[in-house]
Amino acid sequence: MSRREEQVNCGLRIVDCGLRATHDANPKSGIRNPPLEAVLERIYAAEMPDRADLETVLRATDDGQLDLLFDFADRVRREFVGDGVLLRGIIEFSNICRNTCQYCGLNRSNVRLQRYRLTSDEILAATENVDQAGIKTIVLQSGEEDNLDADWLRQVVEEIKWRFDVAVTLCVGERSRAEYQAWKEAGADRYLLKIETSDPGLYGELHPGMSFENRVRCLRDLAELGYQTGSGNLVGLKGQTVASLAGDIQFFQQGNFDMVSASPFIPHPQTPLAREPAGDLLMTLKMIALTRIVSRTAHIPASTALGSLHGRDERPEALAAGANVLMPNFTPMPYRRHYEIYPNKRCVGEDAIACAGCMERMVAATGRWVDYSRGDGLR
Ligand code: SAM
Ligand code: FES
Repeated sequence: MSRREEQVNCGLRIVDCGLRATHDANPKSGIRNPPLEAVLERIYAAEMPDRADLETVLRATDDGQLDLLFDFADRVRREFVGDGVLLRGIIEFSNICRNTCQYCGLNRSNVRLQRYRLTSDEILAATENVDQAGIKTIVLQSGEEDNLDADWLRQVVEEIKWRFDVAVTLCVGERSRAEYQAWKEAGADRYLLKIETSDPGLYGELHPGMSFENRVRCLRDLAELGYQTGSGNLVGLKGQTVASLAGDIQFFQQGNFDMVSASPFIPHPQTPLAREPAGDLLMTLKMIALTRIVSRTAHIPASTALGSLHGRDERPEALAAGANVLMPNFTPMPYRRHYEIYPNKRCVGEDAIACAGCMERMVAATGRWVDYSRGDGLR
């Protein structure tokens, strides 16, 4: 179905499901909100949402307007990805990194961090734990290692696909097209590579020695090679503006990604951004809601960073704002605390099974259910 046909159908569905009716008047403040409702309908219907419209939504602070936004996103979420919440078991297999991302605790200048890389056997044992928990996706994540042996990772992927009925998502940074191709041929299904910010100038400031063009090249290669491809941003980065966040939403729309994440920045003491404030919760939730409205079929995580911000677990808020994925941590316990991309990360002390159980309870409390299927891309 073309986006325009979809627009007509979905516009009708929205009338049917009562969005207009429930939000003609704001029950909390008594203020009527027709302007924001019109803006949301325009964003929903547009081939490419207008940046000024996106900024209007990102600047909204009125309770009634926010209710309208989150309700709209929640209805789109239900319509396009349903009530199930998908689980992805993450295995952080190495914290070694060649990069100096200004916000990231794994950056190579952090000499206080004890570095590790799991052996293939340790990765396979962790995968077995994911499999036994009934979870059908593993995410293999690492820093961007100079010395990562692409053939070693290819063999690990092959072995996992041979032994377990799980989808494999890789998240190991920028690599050559040939390496991406070899891993795809070994059976990797998906790849996550966040753009972090779609503003090339800001990207350059935050990622010394890296290139925005190469990151976009990687995303293009991944999609062309047939990976279900995910991207995303960080909210609250130093120098980021509402305009650049609106640009991120446009970037997600343009990229037509299978997975998109909007997650708050959390300052790490061993980084140049140590003294910067953390990303704002409300702004992150607004980004999740807009992402859902624009990238409707994308799988959107309630990120672990949202579970760790200010020591509170805000993931249920994200699930109510359009998210449909949770990522329990299956990194073996002795290594887990060394994958410190930001401090006070949630679930560092819990074992993997307890972590998955905790997610079952969280999801049940939202009135939804855990979906134990693979949760492939829906595009
Ligand atoms: N090397 C891989 C890559 O570049 O895609 C993946 C590893 S990286 C640690 C995974 C994600 O952690 C990044 O995409 C980034 O958004 C997130 N991250 C890094 N530092 C963070 C921070 N201080 N607060 C929140 N998220 C952070
Ligand atoms: Fe390399 Fe963060 S700087 S993973």
